[in-house]
Order: sequence, then structure tokens, then C-alpha cells
Amino acid sequence: KDIFGADRKNSAGTNIEIASEWQPFRESVEAFTDHHWTAGAIVNGEVQTGDIYKVTAPYDRRESVGEVAFASSALVAKAIDVAAEAFPAWSATPAAERGACLQRLADLLEANTGELVALCHREAGKTIQDSIDEIREAVDFLRFYSHQAATEFAAGKPVVGFDGQERTLTYQGRGVFACISPWNFPLAIFLGQVSAALAAGNTVVCKPAEQTSLIAFRAIQMMLEAGVPAGAIQFVPGRGAEVGSVLTSDVRIAGVAFTGSTETAQRINRTLAARDCDPVPFIAETGGQNAMIVDSTALPEQVVRDVVRSAFASAGQRCSALRVLFVQEDVADRVVGLIKGAMAELNVGRPELHSTDVGPVIDATAKQKLLTHIGALKNQAKMVAQASASPDCAHGDFVLPTAFEIRGINVLQNENFGPILHIVRFKASELDKVIDQINQTGFGLTMGVHSRNERTYSHIERRARVGNCYINRDQVGAVVGVQPFGGQGLSGTGPKAGGPHYLYRFTKDVFTA
Ligand code: SER
Repeated sequence: KDIFGADRKNSAGTNIEIASEWQPFRESVEAFTDHHWTAGAIVNGEVQTGDIYKVTAPYDRRESVGEVAFASSALVAKAIDVAAEAFPAWSATPAAERGACLQRLADLLEANTGELVALCHREAGKTIQDSIDEIREAVDFLRFYSHQAATEFAAGKPVVGFDGQERTLTYQGRGVFACISPWNFPLAIFLGQVSAALAAGNTVVCKPAEQTSLIAFRAIQMMLEAGVPAGAIQFVPGRGAEVGSVLTSDVRIAGVAFTGSTETAQRINRTLAARDCDPVPFIAETGGQNAMIVDSTALPEQVVRDVVRSAFASAGQRCSALRVLFVQEDVADRVVGLIKGAMAELNVGRPELHSTDVGPVIDATAKQKLLTHIGALKNQAKMVAQASASPDCAHGDFVLPTAFEIRGINVLQNENFGPILHIVRFKASELDKVIDQINQTGFGLTMGVHSRNERTYSHIERRARVGNCYINRDQVGAVVGVQPFGGQGLSGTGPKAGGPHYLYRFTKDVFTA
């Protein structure tokens, strides 16, 4: 049962360690090895032309993956017209029917796993496991929100007053929602936002990250096939500075769901505030300076397994990823020694290979930023370890997983969105100072704690200002309906994705006496 007590199961995915599952899965993905995808804006169900953006593979820039026709500003305005016109009919469609379309989309995603995994590798550079997890999470969001809408929004909630009179509370769509999503979860977060907005009764204009428009385009094609009306969903790929700003400054936009950098969230917030119209909901999920605290009672082998996954899985390109590891000095030599050993075992390489642990970063700009940070730290800090790459990485945007020991978290100015781990040693007497320094970064997304002392981990959990605190485990990979995900402060507005309150933020609640 999920957190609503409902019989709703998360997607099973594919277990690639089982030969009978791996073989057909591999064949279904390999069918798309040479595929060339084309995409464009979809307005009122029609694919549009526009300026062409060429997509190449992050692991080998010589490999063409496809092309996308970006939307112009005029097309974005037209997409909003269409969505506004479609709003009354979609919001009046029974919630169960809206949900049924999204359930059919979930089935279609599962039926097309081969193509979607191929797109995750080839467009986003995701490893096999990450690609499977990506599709599972997208399916889980669709089923979770559509189930919630169907059960909680189908009928008004009766509210009986002290006088015995029955009143009704109903949840309705707000209008046209803008959904702006990131490249690091090009299907899961993209569809998570869009499905929540649609399930709640809004029509949607969505803009995927420019780097991952192809997979988003396929998802919208499947959404139309699943029965979402052409007016209810408009797809406008393009650059954030153009499409994103036209979208968020339009007074007809009744709410925005955004996942991406803190800086962009602050810009959108200012744009929304400057509009001469009603204030609207803004749901932002942004970055973090995520820490893990390890005390002397922790089990070093378990710590290292969880550190390596939290810092380097998905090439560190998760907003939840571990950036700063605080290790109590009594166990620091042992833990750092094990991290060094584990990093020497990491396979950095092409994402479609079963043996690869760490794939490429998303693009050359991201790579350059990370390399600049590594270069700066080489002069000020001690490099603990750096993984090596396989020879077939020469033409891709790879950044080697790297660990440094630094003096403190305040050495870091920004979030470094990639496979770079910073390690800080602390004394037992400094625990509160460490938590306060983490809080002072202003970010508050994830935190990991490794301790077998209940008083210590409970104390850290209470004092830390973070959205998701994970104890004695890794700190990435929140599961829909089980670990609602979202941050505080500079890390986002909430409510948490995959949690009980997210959908309500997309609605207006109307009380009828
Ligand atoms: N939800 C993801 C995770 O938990 C990050 O966006 O890793």
C-alpha cells in the first residue's frame, strides 16, 4: 500500500542482473542504436517547424542523435492561446477520466522502454541503471498523481458545520500551468510536473531542457496517443532565455512548476512578481550543497558504499547528490582510505555498457565549469583520489570522479553539479558547528547521516534544515510515494514531489456553503 493506503504499486522496471530479463531488454534498446530522432514544438496536436538544434551524444560528440525545431516566441504565445481555450473543457473533465489518460500513458512508457532507455543513453548520457530508474520514476509519478486525483478530486469533500449544514470543498484546476523541467531527469521530472498539472485539471504549456527535448517530445506524442486532448498539452522546446521567459512573463499563466538552478528559480520568481496580474503559485525545486555527516560509530564499509553512490552515481548530476562529506577525525583515515580504493574501481565510460558506473556529464559547458572547479581546488586543497576513464571516452564530455579534502564547506561558493566530492574532517566537539555551517549555506535539500548512535542522528536530524534527511543509507534516489522529495530555503519551495501535498498546489480550492 502507498502512503494513501491505496493499492498502487510502483513500477517493477527491469532487473538487468537476471539473464532472462537482460537479454530481451538489451535487444529492445539496441534496436534504437542508429536511430535518428526528429522533434519540434507540438501545438494543438500539430508538430511545428522552427530553428534547428542538433543533438549529439554526450559520450561521443561525433555521434548524431537527432534534431529539434525550437519554438519561436510567437509560437509560445500561440501555445498559451490554445491551452487557455482548452482549459474549461479539460477542467470540467472528471478527475477519474483525466487520470485514466495518464494511466494509459504510464502503460505506453513501459511498453516503449527500449526506445526510451536508448534516448536516455544517447541524448542524456544516462547509464543503463539510471535509464531504467528514469522510466520507472516517470511511470510512478503518472500513476501516483492520477490515482490521487481520481480518489481525492473526483467529488467535493463534504464539510459539516456546527449547525449541521453540509458544505462542500472542491479542488479545481487553476488555468494554464507552465512546466519547465531539467535535463538530469528528462522524463521523470518532466512528466512528474506535467502529469500533476494535468491531473489537477489544468491545461499545460511545457518546456523541456534544451539538451533533452527529444525524449520529452516522444513522451508528449505518447501522451496524445494515450488520450490527453490536443488542446490540454502544448509542448514548446527551446532555450530558457527565450521560450522560458516568454512563458513566465505571460499574464495568462496561472502557475509555474520549475526544476533547475536556484538562480533561474529566482529569476522566474522576479518575473512572476513583476507581472501585472493575480499572484500565482510557483513550485520550484532547485539545487543543494548537500552534506553527509559521519561519526566515529558508523560502519566504514557501509559509509563508503553510500558515499560513492551518493556522490558519483549519475555522474553527480542529481540535485540530491552528496557534495560535502564531513567525517569525524577518529575514523577519517580509514574512511578516506576506503573511498580512495572504491574510486579506483569505478568504471567511467560509455553509458550503454553494462560495466559502466559513471557516464558523461550533459554537455561541454557543464564539463568546463567542473574542470575549472577541479583546477582551482588543485591549487588550494589536497586531492584524495581521481578515477580513470576508459579509452573510448576521448570524444565525449566526461569528468572524472574526483575527491578533495577541503578546510570547510564555506570554501565552496556554488553547487558543483557533477562527480566531485569534498571531504572535511571534524572533531566530535564540533558537531553543532558543522550542522550550523551546513545550514548557513542557505541550501536545504538532502543530508546523509551515518551513525549508530540514536542520540547523535536524532540530534542532527532535528537541527539540520533540509528537506530530506537520510540515515545510514545513501541520499539519492527518492522513491515516489515513499520518500516525498523536495527542499527548503535556496533548495526550493515545496511541496514535495511524489508526496501527498504536491497535487494540491496545482489547484484552487473552492468552498461552497
Ligand atoms: N529525486 C531525485 C533523487 O532523489 C533528485 O531529483 O535523487
